[in-house]
Amino acid sequence: MAKPVSIEVWNPNGKYRVVSTKSMPGTRWIRLLTDQDCRVEICTDKKTILSVEDILALIGDKCDGVIGQLTEDWGEVLFSALRRAGGKAFSNMAVGYNNVDVSAANKYGIAVGNTPGVLTETTAELAASLSLAASRRIVEADQFMRAGLYDGWLPHLFVGNLLKGQTVGVIGAGRIGSAYARMMIEGFKMNLIYYDLYQATRLEKFVTGKSSLAFHFMTTSHIPSFQLLGLSSYYFLTAYGQFLKANGEQPVTWKRAATMEDVLREADVISLHPVLDKTTYHLINKERLAIMKKEAILVNASRGPVIDEAALVEHLKQNPMFRVGLDVFEEEPFMKPGLADQKNAVVVPHIASASKGSDMSNPSPLVSYGDPQHTSFQSLLQQNSSHQHTNFAYQDSQASNSTIVEDT
Ligand SMILES: NC(=O)c1ccc[n+]([C@@H]2O[C@H](COP(=O)([O-])OP(=O)(O)OC[C@H]3O[C@@H](n4cnc5c(N)ncnc54)[C@H](O)[C@@H]3O)[C@@H](O)[C@H]2O)c1
Repeated sequence: MAKPVSIEVWNPNGKYRVVSTKSMPGTRWIRLLTDQDCRVEICTDKKTILSVEDILALIGDKCDGVIGQLTEDWGEVLFSALRRAGGKAFSNMAVGYNNVDVSAANKYGIAVGNTPGVLTETTAELAASLSLAASRRIVEADQFMRAGLYDGWLPHLFVGNLLKGQTVGVIGAGRIGSAYARMMIEGFKMNLIYYDLYQATRLEKFVTGKSSLAFHFMTTSHIPSFQLLGLSSYYFLTAYGQFLKANGEQPVTWKRAATMEDVLREADVISLHPVLDKTTYHLINKERLAIMKKEAILVNASRGPVIDEAALVEHLKQNPMFRVGLDVFEEEPFMKPGLADQKNAVVVPHIASASKGSDMSNPSPLVSYGDPQHTSFQSLLQQNSSHQHTNFAYQDSQASNSTIVEDT
């Protein structure tokens, strides 16, 4: 077993021992726990990613609950150890929980939670930033400037793609995908096409506008100029479209695609926002890259394995006008060979959550356990016996649908 890792202790005499595998921003989360008689131990080890052995050493012989990170492998070994130490709850400080084996947690009676909803705007804004950076070649141009290569304005210098009037494609239109779609529609007057397993009701409510259903059902198929553009089955964005019209501008359009391939074929900018599970692993592969437009922009701020990154590197090499903006990578912290050399790739180190205004900048251990009451981490620790909780993955992909409805 690895030697015990270094820790910082708050409220040493607390009744319940809670371990956090990382120091997290702010102190609100610590106060919430210490107020509930918890002794909080925060791992201060310099290692960025803790191994399973490191976490076993942290759990030790008595541990009531753990707050962990998306970089850790929470499976059979850790949940069984937590159970043996008397643990009742585990919280993943992340929206995605692809690093958590929920059936193993259930097997050992450990309730598991995540932090849905707290990163919606910050992640959508980062995806929008990557869309802009890739379409307007910001990083390439910045490097050119710093290298002292700029010797005067030229008409063809770093020509990129204008977003206005183009089509944005969203794959996975849950909280983040929908927020991103709104940013691109309202900010850049882009047309929308989206694909999701479920109808994105909140997004559609925004784009259609409640009071103008008649206009909603008037499709562009009636208008010859739209037919010519191949937009025959798009709807006008009613409320926003009317606002644009009133200002003398072309109304934007939207549609829910029947297949993901429709989005890949039709969109100019495609942003990926699904959960990572077995249905979305390598969702973007060699064949699907091949059906995208040669000058498309692909953005990923969901999880790295949603894209077959080796296939992407090949595609970027073969198609210099195809560009990507990536926040996440298949084997973090590494990039697949060749990616770093591609000028048509903008790459940032998983920073979508890293903004000062986001709720994660001062998190609370109050997380969703998949139950309607949003049971809190600290109340779980205080229960006498292990209780049957609905861990989030039990809701399967319906979980996303219920969270869309959550704040309507
Ligand atoms: N880069 C970051 O720092 C960061 C931050 C937060 C979240 N994320 C990632 O973003 C993901 C989405 O977050 P969210 O809050 O929008 O979640 P969400 O549950 O609201 O949305 C996910 C959407 O994906 C859809 N989906 C599931 N399987 C699909 C499939 N096969 N094809 C198409 N759509 C599918 C769901 O129906 C749902 O609408 C998280 O799971 C997480 O992995 C990344």
